[in-house]
Amino acid sequence: MKTLHTTPQIEPWKLDSWKDKAIRQQATYPDEKHLNQTLAKLSSLPPLVTSWEIKRLKKYLAEVSRGERFLIQGGDCAESFADCNSSIISNRLKVLIQMSLVLIHGCQTPVVRVGRFAGQYAKPRSADMETRDGVSLPSFRGDIVNENAFTEAARIPNPDKMLEAYHHSAMTMNFIRALVAGGFADIRHPEYWDIEWAKHSKNAEKFHKLVAEIKDSVNFAEVLVGTKVHNLSSVEFFSAHEALHLHFEQALTRTVPRAEGYFNLGAHFPWIGLRTNQLDSAHVEMMRGIENPVGVKIGKETDDDHLIDLCRTLNPHNEPGKVTLIHRFGASNIESNLPRLIKTAKKADLDVIWCADPMHGNTESTSNGYKTRRFENISKEIELSFKVHKENGSHLGGVHLELTGENVTECLGGARSLQEADLSKAYTTQVDPRLNYEQALELAFSIKDFYHQ
Ligand code: PEP
Ligand code: CO
Repeated sequence: MKTLHTTPQIEPWKLDSWKDKAIRQQATYPDEKHLNQTLAKLSSLPPLVTSWEIKRLKKYLAEVSRGERFLIQGGDCAESFADCNSSIISNRLKVLIQMSLVLIHGCQTPVVRVGRFAGQYAKPRSADMETRDGVSLPSFRGDIVNENAFTEAARIPNPDKMLEAYHHSAMTMNFIRALVAGGFADIRHPEYWDIEWAKHSKNAEKFHKLVAEIKDSVNFAEVLVGTKVHNLSSVEFFSAHEALHLHFEQALTRTVPRAEGYFNLGAHFPWIGLRTNQLDSAHVEMMRGIENPVGVKIGKETDDDHLIDLCRTLNPHNEPGKVTLIHRFGASNIESNLPRLIKTAKKADLDVIWCADPMHGNTESTSNGYKTRRFENISKEIELSFKVHKENGSHLGGVHLELTGENVTECLGGARSLQEADLSKAYTTQVDPRLNYEQALELAFSIKDFYHQ
């Protein structure tokens, strides 16, 4: 290991100091005036989340870093405006609630629920341009930037899409807040969480048994104590997205009365993707100046020095709960890479949360051209994450998943043993393959087993 790590960032942070750094993965807008007018409008609109909520999440994440709480983070790879509707949003919420209940009961630990939703509209791409039959057009970068159709009109980045993304995030957040505050998550009414198409699946049955057990315990406790157990009727959800579109992130980053510093009020938990986590990166610069807890993706390409410098830059005071390292190695690479990074973090005394993303290192293509992931590899990477952390005197704080409540056929395997030939039946993701409801719930039951191993 080289021995360089001084505290790397010396220049003062400003709202737009990211513009002096290496800017990657951004759209090129042809009309600068239109862009600036849109950003001015966006900056004047109300926030999507509050600083109080952000501080509360940071407190929960500090508990995760001490091993007193488990983080469950999940949702679409890329949200789409077209999917901003009642059943898709509520089904996704139902899966996350059901999974979290399995974990609370099975691991006997509180959880913190963070959705990849209400803003997950920007995607990194491997190339700026896409060429088909000799025609080159800008790559699709997510609904916040352009449209997927391969026409010039659809692919030219349009600043109005940022306003649309803001509005769709607000609508999503509003619906989620209303559902969870209104008793949707009440343990006394688990029938609210039934997903119509999967009511009779093996995993749903298993889940119903578990809920009945929890209800019995609650009833027993109430009879014993002679009072009602409160706080069973609502759960908390926090929002997260990849903080990729820096103009958008800047417009939502603000100061608030009676609190120190800047808050990104577009999401509780923004994260830095693998393609933009370099130390000279504009994304790292943007994120180092905010009060929110932040995630950063790391993988087999992350070397030890990079890890130390990243953590010291994003969390110079080594505050617990501030930085979540979301590791995504792939089931076959985790054992050869994670131990060295854990050792490095320990040696440098870094207070971090380790969170396993078992999705992005396990993507493959089938012979018939589908991008997919095998359930067994996803499950294996989580199992190995628990094991490697334990063996190295650390602990796995959470999981980061791509999932949906819909009956999609995007990942192979799982309870119904989806085969390559099944993928075409309901392959609807905009970018990466997601676990469907049954696969997600099955994974939650496996996670609780791994937790105890
Ligand atoms: C993602 O989370 O969808 C993603 C692009 O991940 P990564 O940055 O880890 O490749
Ligand atoms: Co993805």
